[in-house]
Amino acid sequence: MHIISTVAELRQRLKKQKSIAFVPTMGNLHAGHIHLVELARQHGQCVVVSIFVNPLQFGAHEDLASYPRTLEADLAKLKLAGADIVFTPNEHEIYPVPQTLTVEPPAIANELCGASRPDHFRGVATVALKLFNMVQPQVAVFGKKDFQQLFIIRELVRQLNLPIEIIAGETVREPDGLAMSSRNGYLNPLQRMEAQRLHRALQQVVKAVESGQRDFSALESQAVQHLIQHGWVVDYISVRSATSLAPATLDDHDLVVLGAARQGQTRLIDSLECCAAT
Ligand code: PAJ
Repeated sequence: MHIISTVAELRQRLKKQKSIAFVPTMGNLHAGHIHLVELARQHGQCVVVSIFVNPLQFGAHEDLASYPRTLEADLAKLKLAGADIVFTPNEHEIYPVPQTLTVEPPAIANELCGASRPDHFRGVATVALKLFNMVQPQVAVFGKKDFQQLFIIRELVRQLNLPIEIIAGETVREPDGLAMSSRNGYLNPLQRMEAQRLHRALQQVVKAVESGQRDFSALESQAVQHLIQHGWVVDYISVRSATSLAPATLDDHDLVVLGAARQGQTRLIDSLECCAAT
């Protein structure tokens, strides 16, 4: 496994590679990330993983400074998982000049997570395009846990004609159902016990939709109220079309229930796909 921190060395090392599968991350790796690396191995001969905490996607009052950085442990996990190249650029390597040119994401970037994180998806789309240009992969792997991010990355590739196939990995969960996330480490023991309720609330909505209930906004409000009663601050619970991410209509069959809510300072997100009963 080669650890590379400059774009020049990365390009040199990848010059003759014809089958590159790429997994972009911000590090503090857990089993969810490793699942994506394993998927990448099935789709490319050379697996490249990037570790870069991207300042452009953090808001002014968000956790950029405290975001967990655990490079040594990450490298050990990636070696075991069979990554070929780990790209660990510093901020200057990615942003040598002020990034005055950014990718304007589609309007959906202002809804759901974008409503409480303005400019977040502009930062994600911009760094993704830069990383794609640096690595030039044939395949890139993203997790469904960040369903809206996955959707915007697919649009980036589609609307800008990038010759990259996007593969989606399923969400890897803790035994109690909590989606694995680097931010779970911020939770105190009580919050950690409570955290599974977000997943359970989404499951309740899925169950209702699959049993034929069609009043999506009533289901959303019930889930929000349930979480508020248990001390959560809820950003949103939303039933959407899994293909367009538009609010679900009675004509939609493939749906996704998305949620974001806070335990104390920690913002957790999750999503579950489901099919409307016919
Ligand atoms: P990060 O949060 O490190 O996540 C990297 C990738 O791992 C993303 O595609 C994310 O969806 C996936 N992932 C996270 N938790 C997961 C889980 N429990 N199961 C499966 N996959 C999971 O997402 C980012 O970094 C950044 O926004 C990035 C795309 C790297 C751009 O900076």
